[in-house]
Parts: sequence; C-alpha cells; structure tokens
Amino acid sequence: MTEPVIALDNVHLTLGSGASTVHVLKGMSLEIEPGQSVGIVGPSGSGKSTLLMVLAGLERIDSGTVSVAGAALNTMSEDQAAAFRGRNIGIVFQSFHLIPNMTALENAAVPLELAGNPDAFEIAARELKAVGLEHRMTHYPGELSGGEQQRVAIARALAPSPKILIADEPTGNLDTATGKQITDLLFQTQREHGLTLVLVTHDSALSARCDREIRVRSGRIETGIETDGTDAPAAARIVAVNP
Ligand SMILES: Nc1ncnc2c1ncn2[C@@H]1O[C@H](COP(=O)(O)OP(=O)(O)O)[C@@H](O)[C@H]1O
Ligand SMILES: [Mg+2]
Repeated sequence: MTEPVIALDNVHLTLGSGASTVHVLKGMSLEIEPGQSVGIVGPSGSGKSTLLMVLAGLERIDSGTVSVAGAALNTMSEDQAAAFRGRNIGIVFQSFHLIPNMTALENAAVPLELAGNPDAFEIAARELKAVGLEHRMTHYPGELSGGEQQRVAIARALAPSPKILIADEPTGNLDTATGKQITDLLFQTQREHGLTLVLVTHDSALSARCDREIRVRSGRIETGIETDGTDAPAAARIVAVNP
C-alpha cells in the first residue's frame, strides 16, 4: 500500500474560550494518498476550514495526531510548522489574501522571499506565466479581476514547489465561468506537478472532479465516496468513519 501523504488520527480541536467554546473537530481520522485529489464537502460551520487549517499546521489540535509528508505536524513548534508549510504546502483561499500594495509579481514572490530564495522573482514570474498572467505582472490586486487575483494566489501557492495544494472554496468568490477556468487550472496544475490536492468546496461540479469526496458534518467525517474513479488510485479509500 502507498504511504499516505496526509494522515489524521482521532483529532480533536476546541476553539474559543469560556461560554463561546466550540468543540469543532470531534475525533477526525482520515488518510490521503500522494497525488490524490480530495474534495471536502459539508454544511456551513461543520469544520471544513478548520480541518484545512489543521492540515496546514495553522491550527493547533487538542489531541490526536496529524502527519503530513511523513512529519508529525502536531509536535512541531509554530516556527517549525511555518518552515515546514513553506516547503511542503501551498494554500489558496476563497478571498485570495493578496497583499494590496504589492504587484502580482511581488505577491507571487512573497513565500520564496520569506524562505530566502535568491531566485524568488524569476520563479514567481515563471509561475505567473504558467497561470496565464504574463501580461499582468506589474498590476496591483485592485487592478485585477477576481479570476486574475485567484490565478496570482495559485501562482504564489505553487512557487515554492509544494507537494500538497490546499484550497478553501477557491471558486467561492467567482462567477460560474471564471470558477470553471480556475477549476480547470487547479486540476491541470495537479496533474502537471503530481500534487496532492485537498479542496473545500460547495460546488458539486468541482468536488465531483476529485478522485474522492470526504463529507464533514458537525466536526466528524460522514462517509467516503469514490467519484467517477477515472483517475482514482486503486487504493483510494476512507480509512476511518466516525461512529
Ligand atoms: N476562533 C473561533 N472561536 C470559536 N469558534 C470558532 C472559531 N473559528 C471557528 N469556529 C466555529 O467552528 C465551527 C466550524 O467552523 P469552520 O471550520 O469555519 O466551518 P466551515 O468551514 O465548515 O464552514 C463553526 O461553528 C464556527 O463558528
Ligand atoms: Mg469554511
């Protein structure tokens, strides 16, 4: 069997404090194999975004284990997790999260510059070209359409050559036609880079294109569903379903 690239075992997470404490993740276990595309779906407030934050080491868990690319993310310090994320995980958000006073090129170069890469701008330019934005390098986010801003965010996420791409509602702020273009780009990129793609989406057309769908409800994983299976690895599966 292929070693999973992402493995969660019995993860619990509580957010907030005092009267506003919320038990968000209630014993989540799952395994994702390298190169798989996984769509995480479920009602609003069920814990999907929180699950992505846990996979990225951006949210500390109360108990359980989180293993990503062979490393125990839950035992790392915040600095160690940040460095690990920088090398291994690209993240794309619904609202793009670009820095308004930086050009497309500067935005795409940020993670590489933070990592001290001397070729940051060269690599960022190459990634922007790959997402079809070679003519928008010196534009600021406010001068770009939503679809173009999301392309910058994807270029930025891919610039450090991560193994894993995580996306939270990547088409949520886009019209249907633009959303389709971004979806095509994500799957094309996944194939070309051999990425593991984990995305949260309300868009059933998007999740149906994934090798696997994971349903989250009230902080638990509901079922694992194989989708059309055309590129699904034979061993694609849900390992654990919560009671
Ligand atoms: N910082 C926080 N403090 C308290 N509760 C939170 C916090 N962040 C998220 N939550 C709660 O956790 C639950 C899951 O949130 P989230 O992961 O964003 O859901 P989804 O992405 O599925 O809509 C929600 O009930 C939300 O209100
Ligand atoms: Mg969310």
